[in-house]
Amino acid sequence: MSKFYVTTPIYYVTDKPHIGHAYTNTVADVIARWHRFIGDDVFFLTGTDEHGEKIQKAADAAGKPAQEFVDGLAAEYKRVWERLGISYDHFIRTSDKSHEEIVQKFVNRVYANGDIYKGSYEGWYCVSDETFFTDLQLKEGRCPDCGKEVKWIKEESYFFRLSKYQDRLLKYYEDNPGFLSPRTRSDEIKNRVRGGLKDISITRSEVEWGIRFPIDRGHTIYVWVDALLNYITALGWPGGTFGKFWPADIHVVGKEINWFHTVIWPALLFSSGIAPPLKVFAHGWWTVEGRKMSKSVGNVVDPVAMADKYSVDALRYFLIKEMPLGEDGDFSEKGLVARLNGELASDLGNLFYRVLTLAERFNGEIKGAPELEKELELDSIVEAMGKPDTFTALNLIFKFVGSANKYVNDKRPWSQEGDELSNSLYNLLEACRIIALLLGPFMPEASGKMMEQLGVRGGSLKDCSFGKFQGKVKKMGHLFNKVE
Ligand code: MSP
Repeated sequence: MSKFYVTTPIYYVTDKPHIGHAYTNTVADVIARWHRFIGDDVFFLTGTDEHGEKIQKAADAAGKPAQEFVDGLAAEYKRVWERLGISYDHFIRTSDKSHEEIVQKFVNRVYANGDIYKGSYEGWYCVSDETFFTDLQLKEGRCPDCGKEVKWIKEESYFFRLSKYQDRLLKYYEDNPGFLSPRTRSDEIKNRVRGGLKDISITRSEVEWGIRFPIDRGHTIYVWVDALLNYITALGWPGGTFGKFWPADIHVVGKEINWFHTVIWPALLFSSGIAPPLKVFAHGWWTVEGRKMSKSVGNVVDPVAMADKYSVDALRYFLIKEMPLGEDGDFSEKGLVARLNGELASDLGNLFYRVLTLAERFNGEIKGAPELEKELELDSIVEAMGKPDTFTALNLIFKFVGSANKYVNDKRPWSQEGDELSNSLYNLLEACRIIALLLGPFMPEASGKMMEQLGVRGGSLKDCSFGKFQGKVKKMGHLFNKVE
């Protein structure tokens, strides 16, 4: 049994989660569930990023003490993840006492290694992204990432010797070609690192809401250092399950925070003698009906509202199927409804409905030759999920759904009887069983309903070959309902 450690970013608790956050967690959840399905010992981590100036401001605006404010939103995040079927093993909050203690221990170690020195920071700061920028980086005087206003800050600060790790980072990228993923985004990072690295400010003397910097308690630790460390504090570094699960097999992140995860994070780890993660996968961004999603535009999509209206599985399916993993995509309710009515209710739903109707009426023995099995591209599905390429894997599963539907149309089992009908049903029931198994990581609820109707129990990858069908079929209505 191999271990598999998958993480999501920890989200700023300024508001409840939107569809972008739900996307990252759904991708990570599909990966986590897949690895359980293939028999790995999985640790799936998500959580909330609760310190820093941005959160302090949001709490002030809400008229609440910071701790009370973040408690409320962290609870909301947990509720939403539960609703969306996110099967995390641990939910970390950066205001957890254990996290705070380990962060201080880690910073002390980096300091002891001579990689932290005192100086003064002067430059631009985007509170919304909690990021420092130079003059040259700004876009028309605003934050190059989110487009919001930046402010000029000048304060005493401690710096981390990031510049020292340039060569080591480049060598790590070279030796580990899978680390920067997808490929399409790796050149940008390599070029920037080749261009030279500046030391970075890692404490704030003007920000109160954060973890105290142990070397000089007049400072708090820069929120990004605090946040990145969650990936090892959640394991209880240096003890706990750190030895078992570290290095992380994959950090799933959005493209805008790729730099933090592929440059600053491994450099901090190098400094303290810890191995870097094995892979950082930076996915693309959703626009909503062609526009950037934002509060001011008023087009922020609530994933819970979508799940309530169309079912959790329809939402999860849409998120994975609409946007190739790694690329950008556009969210629209119309697009979701089209996939629900077409691919889910018609293609998948009707396959099950037709097969179950025929199987229920049949009272002979179900047996035959595995004719449909050659249409199942199982090796390609496994290979895609290993990358991970959830998009291609789901497409291949649906290609098999298409093959099963074609088999029904070709064989016309409603006009067959005896051994011929038994053979068709054997093939179709086995196909349905394997489809239900493979869809488990993507659509856990629907997959459960499919198994129930087929009268079979759950299983794992090794059960995905045609055998002797042993279910006791019981049709229970449609898997998905069409909407107008
Ligand atoms: N707190 C930091 C992450 C620290 S990780 C050590 C942060 N938080 S965030 O709340 O802003 O969440 C950012 C993440 O949300 C992105 O990396 C991405 O995963 C997801 N998304 C936010 N908006 C998105 C879209 N419009 N589309 C897709 N995903 C997006 O950054």
